[in-house]
Amino acid sequence: MRIVHTASELRGLARRPARREGDRPSRAVVMTMGALHEGHLALVRAARDEADEVVVTIFVNPLQFDEADDLDRYPRTLEADCALLEPLGVDVVFAPDVDEVYAGGEPVVTVSAGAIGEVFEGEHRPGHFDGVLTVVAKLLNLTQPDLAFFGQKDAQQVIAVRTMVRDLNFPVRVVAVPTVRDKDGLALSSRNVFLADDERERALVLNVALREADAAVRDGAGVAAALAVGRAVLASQPGVEVDYLEFQDPVTADVVPEGYRGEAVLAVAARVGETRLIDNVVTRFG
Ligand code: PAJ
Repeated sequence: MRIVHTASELRGLARRPARREGDRPSRAVVMTMGALHEGHLALVRAARDEADEVVVTIFVNPLQFDEADDLDRYPRTLEADCALLEPLGVDVVFAPDVDEVYAGGEPVVTVSAGAIGEVFEGEHRPGHFDGVLTVVAKLLNLTQPDLAFFGQKDAQQVIAVRTMVRDLNFPVRVVAVPTVRDKDGLALSSRNVFLADDERERALVLNVALREADAAVRDGAGVAAALAVGRAVLASQPGVEVDYLEFQDPVTADVVPEGYRGEAVLAVAARVGETRLIDNVVTRFG
């Protein structure tokens, strides 16, 4: 496994040949901000299964943080991260520093997430998805992959990336990987380390609310009825400050209307103590 920190080192690496003779070699990228856990590793394993060469990027992107202290306290654990990646057969870790990625300072030209950046996570974190898409575009250009793996845990991020790839013709296939959870149902997140024991216990209500609302949909409930079920579960747990619980269109990220038919993302965001958590499940009406 090669660990490189600059774009020129990355460009200089010989690409791996195809595993099957006669195939064009394929490269997959898994983009991360480090502090790796089993959720990230699921993306790496999926990439390893599908591509000849796997590049993992580790970069805490300042452009996508709306609160300076959130950026400052984001865990940075490069050595431990590399120790987790090596046994998985990762070929290259690209871990640039901020000056390498933003050599010209704040970028003048950026990617706009458009309407997707205004709703749900975008509404609560202004500029967040523009920052995400700008760095994803840069990392796609730097790593030149055929496949890019993203976690369904960040459902709106998957929607934003897919839309950018479509609208700006990036020559890459986006693959979404199901959310990895702890045994008790809590979605794995780098932010979970900030939860005190009692907060972690309270945080379980997010997944319970999603599951109960999803079960209501499967029993034939409409949008409002299913949301009422989920919101009642959330309200039963003190100390959890809910930002939203809504059904989202899986292509546009818009809120879905009553009577909607088809696949929808049921997304929740809430603050537990100082820590903001998100989770979602994919469900289907009709
Ligand atoms: P980060 O939060 O480090 O997540 C990196 C990738 O891991 C994302 O695609 C995310 O959806 C996925 N992931 C995180 N937790 C997961 C879980 N429990 N199950 C499955 N996948 C999970 O997302 C980012 O970084 C950044 O926005 C990035 C795309 C790297 C751009 O800076």
